[in-house]
Amino acid sequence: MSDPTPISFARGAPSLDIVDVAGLREAADRALADDPAGALSYGTAWGYQPLREWIADRHQVAPEQVIVTNGSMQADAFLFDVAVSAGDGVIVERPTYDRTLLSLRERGAVLYPVGLEDDGIDIVELERELQDRITPKLAHIIPNFHNPAGCTLSMPKRQRLIELAREYEFLLFEDDPYHAIRFSGEPLPRMLELSGGDGVVYASSFSKTVCPGVRVGYLVGSQAIIEQVRKAAVSAYISPSMIAQSIVYQFAAAGALDRSIETVRSALRERASTLGAALRREIPQARFVAPEGGYFLWIELPAGTDVAAAFEAAKERKLAFVKGTDFMLDGGENTLRIAYSGVTPDQIEEGVSRLAESLAAVAG
Ligand SMILES: Cc1ncc(COP(=O)(O)O)c(C=O)c1O
Repeated sequence: MSDPTPISFARGAPSLDIVDVAGLREAADRALADDPAGALSYGTAWGYQPLREWIADRHQVAPEQVIVTNGSMQADAFLFDVAVSAGDGVIVERPTYDRTLLSLRERGAVLYPVGLEDDGIDIVELERELQDRITPKLAHIIPNFHNPAGCTLSMPKRQRLIELAREYEFLLFEDDPYHAIRFSGEPLPRMLELSGGDGVVYASSFSKTVCPGVRVGYLVGSQAIIEQVRKAAVSAYISPSMIAQSIVYQFAAAGALDRSIETVRSALRERASTLGAALRREIPQARFVAPEGGYFLWIELPAGTDVAAAFEAAKERKLAFVKGTDFMLDGGENTLRIAYSGVTPDQIEEGVSRLAESLAAVAG
């Protein structure tokens, strides 16, 4: 038998066919023609001013409330630097983005994982924890098309989280890189907007709407907190990549961003639907919430399923995915994350067959 072609359900990145390469070339050309000094100088830690103003306008806030960084991961790291000290309590979702867990642990935060339900964080569990046990400094929440869980935070839960943050005086960190990638259902307002900006810091990114290689993300928050983040940014790198930000600005200002979002949405709608159908057919014991957007689908298998063994069996079949245990401090041995952003519908069909075979091999 010939070696199968590798298929990766592991990487949360878009395939190149949904990146507007030609639009980016044109944007880069305009960036260098229209504003070579802005694109090629150091600039300031705030980021490229025209892009900062464009973001502020989209969010209906003052530019002083925005800082543009090298990817939103950098924005997250700066925020943790200014808002979290060793020994501080931080609420995280369970499961959550693995790099958030790493970043918070590196800073010596005490993590309080709170379970996720089909419509986001388990508010009852959170309220119980707040009453009985924890005094958090910050809560990290991924509201839309969760990485890794694929779920979306409901409107009542958004409102309740804001109330709890006020009552228990913790900062709500809304980490929202997938916001624009909704391909079904109704958009929900950001907690940033619902709260009137009070007590919420918001992060987003152009990684999922333009391309990850451009490394442009940003934070929106109160002027006071953004000023603290600016100081952290100056000492880290003087300024972020001005050339990258000027390209994103030109791309957005010319309307290419909105077209790119449409391309990504429609490709991911098809991929998510192919994946859901293949899973229902080939792995009927898999429980999952069909995502309404974003890159990820989270699978829970019957208790006792050894996903770590299935991971090894899948590797032999040249299929990669991420084990659920990577996104939690403990537990989750029967769970896994599938990223459908970087694979075509054909690869999804083939990948799900390999996953079904791998699970059958370890069950047997
Ligand atoms: C929840 C979440 N936050 C932050 C990031 C970082 O994104 P970037 O640094 O590419 O903007 C990611 C990337 O996958 C993510 O899933």
